[in-house]
Amino acid sequence: MEAGEAKKRIEQLRAAIERHDYLYYILDAPEISDAEYDALMKELSALEAAYPQFVTVDSPTQRVGGAPAEAFRTVAHPLPLLSLNNAYDTDELIEFDRRLKKQAAPEPLIFVGYVGEQKIDGLTVALLYQDGVLVRGATRGDGLRGEDVTANIRTIRSIPLRLQKRVPGRVLVRGEVFMTKDSFQELNRERERAGQSLFANPRNAAAGSLRQLDPAVTATRSLDAFFYDLLLWEGAASALPPTHWEAQTLLREWGLKVNPYSRLCSSIKEVVDYCREWEEKRSTLPWEIDGVVVKVNSLAFQERMGATAKAPRAKIAYKFSPEEAFTRVREILVNVGRTGVLTPLAILEPVRVAGSTVGRATLHNEDYIREKDIRTGDVVVIRKAGEIIPEVVRVVPERRTGAEKPFTMPAVCPACGAAVYREPGEAAVRCLGASCPAQQKERIIHFAAKNAMDIEGVGPAVVNLLVEKGLIKDAAGLYDLTAGDLAGLERFGAKSAENLLAAVERSKENPPERLLFALGIRHVGEEMARRLVGYFRDLDRIFTATKEELMAVPEIGEAIAESIRRYMEEAQNREFLEKLRRAGLKFKAEERKATAEPLSGKTFVLTGALAAFTREEAEEVLRGLGARVTSSVSKKTDYVVAGESPGSKYQKAVDLGVTVLTEDEFLRLLTDLRQRKESQTKGGIYDEAGEGGSQAPGGAGPFRAQ
Ligand code: IVH
Repeated sequence: MEAGEAKKRIEQLRAAIERHDYLYYILDAPEISDAEYDALMKELSALEAAYPQFVTVDSPTQRVGGAPAEAFRTVAHPLPLLSLNNAYDTDELIEFDRRLKKQAAPEPLIFVGYVGEQKIDGLTVALLYQDGVLVRGATRGDGLRGEDVTANIRTIRSIPLRLQKRVPGRVLVRGEVFMTKDSFQELNRERERAGQSLFANPRNAAAGSLRQLDPAVTATRSLDAFFYDLLLWEGAASALPPTHWEAQTLLREWGLKVNPYSRLCSSIKEVVDYCREWEEKRSTLPWEIDGVVVKVNSLAFQERMGATAKAPRAKIAYKFSPEEAFTRVREILVNVGRTGVLTPLAILEPVRVAGSTVGRATLHNEDYIREKDIRTGDVVVIRKAGEIIPEVVRVVPERRTGAEKPFTMPAVCPACGAAVYREPGEAAVRCLGASCPAQQKERIIHFAAKNAMDIEGVGPAVVNLLVEKGLIKDAAGLYDLTAGDLAGLERFGAKSAENLLAAVERSKENPPERLLFALGIRHVGEEMARRLVGYFRDLDRIFTATKEELMAVPEIGEAIAESIRRYMEEAQNREFLEKLRRAGLKFKAEERKATAEPLSGKTFVLTGALAAFTREEAEEVLRGLGARVTSSVSKKTDYVVAGESPGSKYQKAVDLGVTVLTEDEFLRLLTDLRQRKESQTKGGIYDEAGEGGSQAPGGAGPFRAQ
C-alpha cells in the first residue's frame, strides 16, 4: 500500500473505532460484534506497525502504552478543584435555597432553577483536552495540585482520547472515575482466588486501580467515568453556555459520558423529591452513589455567588443517611410465618438509617444468630440497603457488659403451642400444628385447593374472609358452616352461599388419598398420598403405622415416614383429624374393583439379556400387568428377572434374598397370569393377592422359591 493511501485508511479506521467505542462504552448500544471490532483494531495495528510515522497519541491503539512509572508526577491544576458543603437533611436544602434567593433578590430573574445530579462514590479526575485531544488526566489531590495519572486515564474505554467534535483551544472537565458494583464483585472474586487482599468497596477499588504505577494493570480493571462540570474552555471559538444543564449537553455532544439521571428542577421542592427518589432507589443502580449534588443552573449566578476557600456557594451535596447504624437489641422475638416457619426477629432501640427509622431487624434463623453470636442487650451494627428489610451486620463485642443473654429457639410454637421441628440439613424450624393460627389461612387454602379437596369457591379471598370473621379456625370448620353463617357476609349472595355449602358437602365424597394430601403433612405430596392409600387402604392404618411399616411402602423413605409420625404425635393434629372424621369425610378407600391388575404392587428389576424380548418389550409387558419396573435392586424389590450374563444386580438380589427368576420362569409366570386373566374376564373374579398385594402373585409357583 502506498503511504498516502495507508494514511487515509488509518484515519478511516480510527474514526470507525472511536465511533464504535462511543456506541459501546457511552451509549451502551453497540452496532457491531466484538469480532468485527477486533478485526478493525487488528487492521489498524498492522498499518501503524508498517507506517510508524502515522502513529499519534490519540490513536485507539495507544490506550495502554509506556513503561510502569516510578512515581506519579505532581501537576498544578489550571484552577482550583474545590470541594462541596454538605446538607444532611432536606431542611438544610430548603435553607440553602432561601439563602440563595435572598442573595439573588435584587435580580431575581437571573435565577433559573437547579440541576440535581447523583453524587457518584468514586474519585475526582480533571481532564485536559487540547484542540480536542486528551493531553492530561489528574487526580484532585489537595485541590490545587494533583497527581498526573494520564497513562491510566487513557486505559478507561469510556473516556475518549479525542473529542467527537473538533473543539479548539483548551478544555478542562471534571468528573468521577468509579467501578460498577458488578465489576467490583468480579475483581474481588478474582483476588480471592489468587489469594490477594480484597478491596473494601467499589470506591477503594477504583482509587486503587487508578493509582497503579503500571497502566497495564489499570487497563485490566474495568473502570468507568461520568463527567459533570465544564471548568474551563479557552480558545478562539469558545463560548461557555449560559446554564449548567446546557454545559452538560455540550459535554455529551463532545462524546464525554454524562450521567443520564441528572434532572432539571424548577424549584427546591423538585430538588427534594429528586433527592428522596434516589435515596430510596440507590440500591437499584449499577454504581454506588452517596448523595445528590444540587447545582444552581445559571452559570452567571454561580459565578456571582462565588466560593469560600473550600466550596462554591451555589452548589451543595445532599448526603444520604448512611446505610449502616449502631443500635441495641432490646429483645429477640420469634415470628411464625404463614407456612409455619419460625423466624427470630430483633427488636431494636429505634435508630435512623438510610432515610427511615428502624425498630426491628430480621435474624433469619437460629444458625444466623449463632454464627454472629447475637444476644439480647448487644450493641449491633444494622444495615438497610434500599427497600430490603434491615439486617444485623455484626455485633460490637467491645460494648458488652456481661448482662447480654444468648438466644435459644423455643421448643414449642409461640403461636399455638404445638411442637416445633427442624429437619436435618435445613435451617428452618417449623411448627407442626394443623390448627396453628399463624398458618391457618395457608393451610385452609391448601386443603380446599383443586388438587386437594377441590372445594370450589374456597380460594384465598374467601378463606381470608371466613377466618377474619371468626367463622372458621381450621379446615374442619368448613364442614360446620351454615347458610346462616354466610348470610351476613358482604359480597356473599344467597346463591354463592348455597354453592359454597354444596361444594363443601360434595368434598366429603373425595377418596382418602385426596384428604391425606389436603392435610399438608410435610413431604406428603399427591403422589406419596396415592401410594400410601394404595398400600394401606385406610388413613387410620397409615396414622397408626410405625415408621418401619410406613417405609415398607415402595418409594416411602425415612423422611416421609418420620414426617407422618411427627404429625400424629401432635395432639392438636389428632383432634383436627377427629373433627374431619365426625364431619363424615372418607378415611377408607373403596373396595378394590375386580379389574385390579395381577402384578400391581409388585416391583421388578431386569438384568442381563432376554432371548424372547428386548428390555423395553419386557418392561412394557410387566407394566401392562400392573408391575413397577425399577433399575436398582433393594429390599423392596419383589423379583429380579435374570437373563443371559446378568450384571451386579443379580448378586445384589441374591445377597438381599430377593426372588430371582430365570427367563424360563419369567415366561411361565407370564403365561400363568395371562391364563388367569382370561378366565377372569370370562366370568370369574380374580382372587387378589392380599391387601395391597404384598404377597407373591398367583399361587405357589416355581418362581416363588429360589
Ligand atoms: S460537583 C466544587 N458533581 O463529590 C465541587 N461532585 O463531596 C464540584 N462528586 O469532590 C463537585 N459526583 O468528587 C460534583 N455529580 C457530581 C459529583 C461530585 C460525585 C464528588 C466529587 C467531589 C465530591 C464532593
